[in-house]
Amino acid sequence: MRVLAIESTCDETAAAVVDGNRKGIEIISSKVASSSEIQAKYGGIVPEVAAREQVRSVIPVIKEALEGVDKKTIDAVAVSYGPGLMGSLLIGVETAKSLALAWNKKLINVNHLEAHISANWFRSPVPDLPAIGLIISGGHSDLVWIHDLNDWEWIGGTLDDAAGEAFDKAARVLGLGYPGGPAIQRAADEAEGERLPDRLPRPMIHDDSLNMSFSGLKAAVAKVAAETKGEKNIRMLAADFNEAVADVLAKKSLMAIAAKKPRSLLVAGGVAANKKIRERLTEMAEAHDVDIFIPEIKYCGDNAAMVGAAAILKPREANIAVLGPDPNLQSAK
Ligand code: KG4
Ligand code: ZN
Repeated sequence: MRVLAIESTCDETAAAVVDGNRKGIEIISSKVASSSEIQAKYGGIVPEVAAREQVRSVIPVIKEALEGVDKKTIDAVAVSYGPGLMGSLLIGVETAKSLALAWNKKLINVNHLEAHISANWFRSPVPDLPAIGLIISGGHSDLVWIHDLNDWEWIGGTLDDAAGEAFDKAARVLGLGYPGGPAIQRAADEAEGERLPDRLPRPMIHDDSLNMSFSGLKAAVAKVAAETKGEKNIRMLAADFNEAVADVLAKKSLMAIAAKKPRSLLVAGGVAANKKIRERLTEMAEAHDVDIFIPEIKYCGDNAAMVGAAAILKPREANIAVLGPDPNLQSAK
């Protein structure tokens, strides 16, 4: 099946053409326009600004993705319909509906969180199931039990802030700018192995549930930052923050693996681009003989290729007349 996919849940506008089946998926084109540089001026995402940029970018990005592709070869139009920001979602969903109607193609509605996990199907061979999914993005930190492609169960996750949100808030406290994840990673790299050891907590790491909590880390970062001035200390604190999040994610993933005995661990979402977190999860999975999949960095953050992959893995046909955005959609639905 060949799919034109559209992604517009937050501050990225993306379109892609992907082709394949459950045994392997090929990316024909993948284009992403981001308004994060504009958002950086405000220190975070302003939903109205994000929606306005979606309107501006959606048609040019789709045109780019379709360059050199014969429309007749496309079997379906796919779109992320949630979770996300209402104003941003509306642009992608209404555009996808219009195209499906005008071209007389099937419309497939995709859960954005399932799409993040589906970015692991670009590798060959594809993941063996059952798997544990670890979704770490700006809005979610979830552990899901993927029994098969149609049977997902939420088994744990954050009780408050998402991992990406924690990176964004800590970066703001440290004056490192937005988006916080790449900024913290850069500062941590510059610390060159030095960090302020054990000044930050590892929230809920000894709790025997699969739950996590990241909101306390922001306050802890602010407290230690006030006590330890100087650029070098800021970099070392950023390094310890990155380490703290990696410690918690590796421990909770290990607990999920011990409880469920999956064949694979599928990591996904913007935070999966983090070097330290990739290394730590890979070491942990290899030590426990679990196949680990983490998308290439360019497919960790929001993109449309992953939306096309999800549509191929789970081709849920939508009714064009009634499909609307679902801003609060959950990871296992
Ligand atoms: O998946 P994503 O692009 O959008 C959502 O669905 O939320 O994730 C965005 C989040 C942001 O919080 C951003 O700071 C974080 O991913 N992020 C990172 C890195 N790159 C992006 N966090 C840690 N390390 C990174 N290298
Ligand atoms: Zn996302």
